[in-house]
Amino acid sequence: MHDAHNKHSSGKPVTRREMSRRQFLSYTLGGTGAFMAAGMTIPMIRFAVDPVLQSSGEGTFVKVVEESKITAEPKSFKFQVHQVDGWVESEIELEAWIMKNDKGQVYALSPVCKHLGCTVNWNSDPRFPNEFFCPCHEAHYTKSGKHLAVAPAPLDEYDIKIENGFVYLGKVLPNQQVTK
Ligand code: FES
Repeated sequence: MHDAHNKHSSGKPVTRREMSRRQFLSYTLGGTGAFMAAGMTIPMIRFAVDPVLQSSGEGTFVKVVEESKITAEPKSFKFQVHQVDGWVESEIELEAWIMKNDKGQVYALSPVCKHLGCTVNWNSDPRFPNEFFCPCHEAHYTKSGKHLAVAPAPLDEYDIKIENGFVYLGKVLPNQQVTK
């Protein structure tokens, strides 16, 4: 070790043994603190930047179905997205209810009930014809996803694009259909 490093800021010489111990503690505690901070910060950043990626795979669009198959009647489609979670990569299956609105525009709703996260179905309960219905606690929604009972919010909607005759779905977003 260079002599200049073996002095206090006061200029008073210190022994190599004291300096080594101090350096050791400094590196150890500093390193542990940095490691712990990174451990807490990285997931926080990930959740802040990436809240929807949990379900839609890095904001990219996935080809789901030919546009010609979409009618005014909601139909369920399953599709795979590639998900990267830390060092773990996997394919997950998602579902969307895809249909046309009164203006003929194609849109896609998430099947995840906004009450407690069960899965809704279309037109599955005779008491609520032509509505999305959740069997868990009987929330039901209009075709545009508007919540009519139990659930506190409309069904979410997938980001969507139509390209070369195919429907592509992206991130899950707050419902836009209800206000249309
Ligand atoms: S989770 Fe759908 S009604 Fe409760």
